[in-house]
Amino acid sequence: MKTICFFNHKGGVSKTTTAYNLGWALSLLGKKVLLVDLDPQCNLTGLVLAEKAIDDLFMQNFYQNRGNLTLDPIVEKVIKGALSSDIAQDGKVYPVNENNLFLLAGSLNLSNLDSQITTALKTAPSIPIMGKVISGFFDTLIQIAHMQNVDYMLLDLSPSIGGLNQLALMGSDFFIVPTSPDYFCLQAIHSVSKKIQEWHTDIEQFKAITNVSIKNHPVFLGTIQQRFRLRNNAPTKAFENWIDKIRINVNEILIPKLKTLNCVVDEDLFRQVVTDHEPYDLAQIPDFNTLIAISQRCQKPVFMLSEEDLKEAKQFGQAEETSKNKIEDFKKLFEDLGKSIIALTR
Ligand SMILES: Nc1ncnc2c1ncn2[C@@H]1O[C@H](COP(=O)(O)OP(=O)(O)O)[C@@H](O)[C@H]1O
Ligand SMILES: [Mg+2]
Repeated sequence: MKTICFFNHKGGVSKTTTAYNLGWALSLLGKKVLLVDLDPQCNLTGLVLAEKAIDDLFMQNFYQNRGNLTLDPIVEKVIKGALSSDIAQDGKVYPVNENNLFLLAGSLNLSNLDSQITTALKTAPSIPIMGKVISGFFDTLIQIAHMQNVDYMLLDLSPSIGGLNQLALMGSDFFIVPTSPDYFCLQAIHSVSKKIQEWHTDIEQFKAITNVSIKNHPVFLGTIQQRFRLRNNAPTKAFENWIDKIRINVNEILIPKLKTLNCVVDEDLFRQVVTDHEPYDLAQIPDFNTLIAISQRCQKPVFMLSEEDLKEAKQFGQAEETSKNKIEDFKKLFEDLGKSIIALTR
């Protein structure tokens, strides 16, 4: 089982959308995948449940039904310091598609857990009981993933730099940084670089003082550049400049720091696997444009939209032919991305 975390200290860069789309892509390639919504905003849960997520009665039943496994009771127990072997329980995670893609639905309480973990990381050396919250959280996720027998657990994080994200990122086997081609993302590459190094040191110190065993070695797989506009099948010049700038900064700022921690995927392997981009651009995904609205209504990724779905959309004035071609392009992009991820995480 491999854990892959999606993180960027910047909101709205397609972390949630990419976790969802890549989860689908991996499941179509025959892998069993568990999506975990670790953002207290619960956007991933909303994306999966669509209009059901705003039906109060549905949500009440969904979270109160003991047979459904969600983060709500899990987070509550972790906060109380229960042992992960007592917290992790078998149960039904929500089926997202018919191809082995599942969701561990999010919880508003994650923000409480975030503050608890943040405090615990600071105080555990003097108040050892606090250490339980720390070891309990990630262990529980891993145990659930094993119980569900999944090949991949994908963690969708908020852009916060609190303790929850620190543990989720540093405890993962791999991480991906979704980016959009603009100045804010360039800035975020710098803060992500700084944070990861700080987080690593923090956790090493914490481990040395408390003897709590937690993982602290996530391997960077690359960035996914997203939401640019195309002209003649290539990003327009303005976007291309930002894409290049971000790639250069990743290579000059982020990679050297990660290398000192031994937290980067092997460059030769990357070049062998990803042949159409330079390291560390895993993929470049253009703007979905109006397809995103159709996809959210149909509760599937843009690359899974059918002719029927498009016919319905045509009523809203979208040209059917161009969309069909675009969907095929996106399908290829995400299939390739899924295959690259499998090859890089082997
Ligand atoms: N490639 C894309 N093209 C167009 N819109 C996108 C694309 N990726 C994401 N979006 C939209 O951008 C917004 C932010 O994406 P989201 O996945 O929620 O980002 P994050 O999780 O990083 O905050 C959402 O409205 C989403 O539908
Ligand atoms: Mg999100």
